[in-house]
Amino acid sequence: MNILAISGSLRPTSTNTALLRALADQAPDNVAVTLYNDLDELPHFSPERDHANTSEPVHRLRTLIRHADAVIICTPEYIHGIPGVLKNMLDWLASSGEFVGKSVGVISASPSDTGGSRAHASLSYTLSVLTADLPKGASLIVPFVRRRLDADGRVTDPVLVQELRNVLDALTNASKRYVSE
Ligand code: FNR
Repeated sequence: MNILAISGSLRPTSTNTALLRALADQAPDNVAVTLYNDLDELPHFSPERDHANTSEPVHRLRTLIRHADAVIICTPEYIHGIPGVLKNMLDWLASSGEFVGKSVGVISASPSDTGGSRAHASLSYTLSVLTADLPKGASLIVPFVRRRLDADGRVTDPVLVQELRNVLDALTNASKRYVSE
């Protein structure tokens, strides 16, 4: 099984990306979690740029999602919403339909007590508009995220490690069901 992991943060020391790395570390041998690294390469979306010969980064993104059995997105919250770069990515996927029926896990993380819950709700809503499958257990809000990582950005909190494992399990189970139906 092949899972594409997308962080909504471009920061090299991103806590959200760190959570995705920790989730990837939990993957069993038959599950490959690949981190998407090209969010910063996507051009700004505009409908007249959305055609068959669209740019290479957009083509690559669409191919990666199409070939993934499931997707996991982990995002920070900016001004009570999702980061513009992440919304830009989702806009590129509206007409091409890669998220239709795709199992997608949604995680938000923030240093605040809300854990980015508004970004989580907004991202979940947009994905539901794109008719993605949002498995119930593949959803997590992580408050006070900085306290739960060590100085090297590794997840040290065993509760959080288990929560990430639960998200991964729910996502792989949902994706297996989808493939067998
Ligand atoms: C933030 N941050 C933030 N946090 C939050 O919980 N709610 C919010 O509305 C915002 N708004 C916001 C706006 C802007 C412009 C910035 C730069 C930051 C803080 C944010 O959650 C924090 O920087 C995270 O650590 C970013 O995630 P990464 O980059 O560590 O993954």
